[in-house]
Amino acid sequence: MIPQAPKGTDDILPPASEKWRTLLRGFEDLARRYGYALTMTPLFEATELFSRGVGEETEVVEKQMYTFADKSDRSLTLRPEATASVVRAYLGAGLQGVFKGYYAGPMFRYEQPQSGRRRQFFQVGVEYLAEPSPDADVEVIEVGYRLLADAGVTGVGVRLNTLGDPADRAAYRDELRSFLRGRAGDLSPDARRRLEGNPLRVLDSKADAEVVADAPAPIDSIGGEAAAHFSGVRAGLDRAGIPYEIAPRLVRGLDYYNRTVFEYVSADYTAAQDALGGGGRYDPLAEMLGGPPVAAVGLAMGVDRIVLAMPDPEPAGPDVFVVLADPQRRAEALGMVGRLREAGLWAEMDLGERSLKAQFKVAGRRSARLVAVVGDEWDEGEVTVRRMADGEESRVAIEEVPAWASR
Ligand code: HAM
Repeated sequence: MIPQAPKGTDDILPPASEKWRTLLRGFEDLARRYGYALTMTPLFEATELFSRGVGEETEVVEKQMYTFADKSDRSLTLRPEATASVVRAYLGAGLQGVFKGYYAGPMFRYEQPQSGRRRQFFQVGVEYLAEPSPDADVEVIEVGYRLLADAGVTGVGVRLNTLGDPADRAAYRDELRSFLRGRAGDLSPDARRRLEGNPLRVLDSKADAEVVADAPAPIDSIGGEAAAHFSGVRAGLDRAGIPYEIAPRLVRGLDYYNRTVFEYVSADYTAAQDALGGGGRYDPLAEMLGGPPVAAVGLAMGVDRIVLAMPDPEPAGPDVFVVLADPQRRAEALGMVGRLREAGLWAEMDLGERSLKAQFKVAGRRSARLVAVVGDEWDEGEVTVRRMADGEESRVAIEEVPAWASR
């Protein structure tokens, strides 16, 4: 029997991979235009990074990590996210001052797989370190918004909230805890257990949505500085023309956030797992990892979900498909393919020894725009080209083919 891919993982094959390619290229261009530089960190890390960074009592750390011991008995974990790694790398390299990094890669979470929720999934993200301005939050939110717009995802909106500063959060936590204690009888067993340690997590719980709807919201207990920051973020989003709505109970599933948190949703993508991406400000994280305070804001977008919400791309095919009318001229035809590729064109040739008709069929299946026929005309320095859209044929000089292909 042929081994199967593990549960919750996917092979991304053509033609579906074309959407991935479009999105990943678009993201890289976009991130560079905003001044972010490629940042690569390991796919596995010391488990402690996530228990300290993401938070011991989060769903991700409690239930979803792929943790294993290596041959020297170190506890390692396949990264469930990349933010903690980027901050670890920044601190570890002794960097100071503003750092803007982007990344793209697979993350791993042991979740119950379904459409858009995978055990290996792919994120693209940016992290903006050492910049406390609310305009940094706005910039990051804009990057995610642009990515979705450029990918053709329609009906995109941002859910926005603020968690306040750590002291506000502690006060809110107490208030929420006493509210939840009063409703303990209506809570799920998980929520009852959580409410003592980390009651904020109850706000994420789908099973407790009814109780949560009446719960106090963090925004009602934030201090003056956090409130001013939030006004700055809102003003910036208005300026940038990015639609958002305040989601007062959005807290997100990771413990490092303070102040701004956000998620992207699309009115036209209404799956159970509807966040196409999310992020926020995480000023506390560097200190949680034992470093000095470093202001920070970032986001990660879920590529597996975005491709589900993206329209199909225009079918793409080779600029030129070279076919061989005379098998004796194989070397010339191969040489021509090589020169077209050097000229920056997408050029192909069928390498089997098939009839002329069969080669044309392959060219059609590949959606080639132009077919160049290498035959007897070669002796006069020419080939016959056929424009596949309308079948029009012309004899053209060999060196003219690239120009014809670009028409
Ligand atoms: P997150 O909300 O856990 O945040 O993940 C970000 C996005 O990754 C989600 O909105 C979703 O689109 C996608 N995602 C998460 N889990 C899965 C899954 N199992 N299958 C498919 N897609 C998934 C973070 O990871 C933070 N590190 C974001 C961040 C960056 N905050 C600050 N900087």
